[in-house]
Amino acid sequence: MLTVSPELLRASAAHFVEGELAIEDVALADIADAVGTPVYVYSSAMFSSQYQLLVEALKGLPNRLHYAVKANSTLAVLKQFADLGAGFDIVSGGELSRVLTAGGDPAHVVFSGVGKSTEEIDFALKTEIECFNVESAGELARISERANVLGKMAPIALRINPNVDAQTHPYISTGLRENKFGIAQENALALYRLAAADPHIQVRGIACHIGSQIGDPQPLFDALEQLLALVDALKNEGIVLTDIDLGGGFGVTYDEEPAFDVTAWGDRVKERLGDRGLQLSIEPGRFLTANAGVLLTRVEYLKVGDEHSVSNETSSAGKHFAVVDAAMNDLLRPSLYQAWHGVLPVKQQNTDGNTRTWDIVGPICESGDWLAKDRQMSLSVGDLLCVLSAGAYGSTLSSNYNTRPRAAEVIVDGAAFRLVRRRESLQDLLTTEML
Ligand code: LLP
Repeated sequence: MLTVSPELLRASAAHFVEGELAIEDVALADIADAVGTPVYVYSSAMFSSQYQLLVEALKGLPNRLHYAVKANSTLAVLKQFADLGAGFDIVSGGELSRVLTAGGDPAHVVFSGVGKSTEEIDFALKTEIECFNVESAGELARISERANVLGKMAPIALRINPNVDAQTHPYISTGLRENKFGIAQENALALYRLAAADPHIQVRGIACHIGSQIGDPQPLFDALEQLLALVDALKNEGIVLTDIDLGGGFGVTYDEEPAFDVTAWGDRVKERLGDRGLQLSIEPGRFLTANAGVLLTRVEYLKVGDEHSVSNETSSAGKHFAVVDAAMNDLLRPSLYQAWHGVLPVKQQNTDGNTRTWDIVGPICESGDWLAKDRQMSLSVGDLLCVLSAGAYGSTLSSNYNTRPRAAEVIVDGAAFRLVRRRESLQDLLTTEML
């Protein structure tokens, strides 16, 4: 029997066992049978092994890993990273609340984001987080004022916009002047002086985050050089920083992209930071979770186009649509970024079957509701499909659009699996509303 491109699985936690996809020692079909579809499934072992790659890459340098909660904020996922020793990068009071609920230590939490509200700042000050990554003069003033009111010292870093092109999708590029993020370099010194003179502010560090799904490390090194130049300039003025935060962004393999070489990146960073006495911080999200996760979905209907006619009642001429039970509300990345995700039938197929080219689409009333386009496979109604690389920015970007309950989530650990988020009920969706 052969087979649908198993090379698609090179970076994924999913693998074939006797012709059926599994994660660790659990057949994905068993999970779908037990929990239903759509369902996100994560490999606990892969969360740990990805984390370990970063730990190894930075060995020898004082450092702290702050997992970017936005990539996957499911409590059980946060708990695993907390248990592994991770700190957390948050961008909202909601994420802080998740970290605390999962048992994360607020003393290892950095708070990024351009729009921190007074309420969120107060929450973070009261829980005594590690650092605010400040993105504007207005925010610095507000943090100082709230620290004063609450009788706290606010630890801060300034997030610098280094104006480097991360060479990634424009929606996930954050380090260019045209992006809303960070403080322009030429304004940084003045703002640091202000912060250093403020009795409610403790100046700790400097930060940047230039984008996501970065393949070529060079823009990250360019940003590092700019930050180091500022560190030196500040030192000359007697403002001594102890922390440098290089953000996240390490790219992963969805299709044929080579995996970001964290070892080579780490070696170069170690070389540059060597004896400066700065603690390095990073904020990876996708790298830790993307390929540890898949989304399972079942084929509901097949709309087969007529290959010969231009007018067809079933579907557009020549187009074959597999309508599945997952949609853009479950996995938004294809609709939002035209992102490519590998899709494989959970049962390995004979290539001599009835192979066609399918668009895999959801039930939502939008033409943009698709998960994958032009995929060759042989499909029948009821088949189980596995959408790869769905562990990052999958469940966190999901919504209730079309009043669809959010999917269940499962973590596999060896031969066992456990439900870590039950599927939402229709009742859950209506509870916050009143007539
Ligand atoms: N730190 C900050 C301040 C960030 O804004 C982000 C991501 C990260 C860290 C983590 O970046 P990562 O290591 O995951 O690349 N929804 C998009 C990605 C948006 C990224 C936003 N910021 C997607 O699905 O591709």
